[in-house]
Amino acid sequence: MLITGKTRIVGIFGNPIEQTMSPYMHNAAFEALSLPYCYLPFNINHNDLEASVRSIIPLGIKGVNITIPFKMKVIPFLDELDRHAGLIGAVNTIEVREGRLIGHNTDGNGFIKAFNEEIDLPIAGRRFLIIGAGGAARAVAFALAEEGAGEIIIKNRTVEKGRVLADDLRKNFFSLKISVMEFNAYGINNLITDGDVIINTTSVGMKSSDPLIIPPDILRPSMAVCDLIYNPPETPLLRGARKSGIRFMNGLGMLLYQGALSFEIWTGLKAPIEVMREALIREASKTKCRTE
Ligand code: ATR
Repeated sequence: MLITGKTRIVGIFGNPIEQTMSPYMHNAAFEALSLPYCYLPFNINHNDLEASVRSIIPLGIKGVNITIPFKMKVIPFLDELDRHAGLIGAVNTIEVREGRLIGHNTDGNGFIKAFNEEIDLPIAGRRFLIIGAGGAARAVAFALAEEGAGEIIIKNRTVEKGRVLADDLRKNFFSLKISVMEFNAYGINNLITDGDVIINTTSVGMKSSDPLIIPPDILRPSMAVCDLIYNPPETPLLRGARKSGIRFMNGLGMLLYQGALSFEIWTGLKAPIEVMREALIREASKTKCRTE
């Protein structure tokens, strides 16, 4: 990549940042389209978040992604949030528009695009079990609700956090059926049945010693299983799904599409999906991480 006086800077703010996969896919996309952009990682000290965000415009940076642990903390320093970021309460993309900082969240729509491509089951009216209630779970839950999901069951280690997510969903989606389960509750076999979709948004499954996050006997051939982990590419949960002959996807597609949507926000151009996918697949095998 040739850096010149005309190169435009975009990047990602996080801490730590060494694990990020985003530079590979974005820089590959810029090169493929011969765009004069460069995507850089910024390791931001916790106390420097405000100063860093306020430096975006004076430094001429065109936009940044935001990752752990700043997706919520960044909100007070922005001028405006788009609808998704406002609903989810977290920002993964900042756009500089007419001298103002606009916060977006592309995680949920990234998940939906990956789901439609890889699982290809209608979302409308369907029941989803979401395991976890953190930022990624919130993005996925709101996106599914917007797509007309019929029912969402939330199962989180900290039940209170699950309840907060359920309440936030209820306030916005009146006809959506929502319930919250205790993490180790029995009876899940009676709640989850044919045609349902199970989504793991936690980090359980990244380590080979991790337990299976659901009882294996609840899987049925008509279900689908999504794990937002992409490395390892096959978690114990996904292995169970494959062995049961049911549809499954890991987190690489969501990572790809959330990045592609950020790219489109910054450049106004259609993202070269296959170039970005190849760059991710090439690098994913070398890094251990979950969603960004
Ligand atoms: P992200 O923004 O990537 O979703 P997060 O907001 O830190 O990250 O959320 C992580 C989620 O994984 C949470 O739901 C967390 O459960 P708690 O709310 O109880 O913290 C869940 N999680 C992380 N480690 C877990 C574990 N070992 N067992 C069960 N759930 C876990």
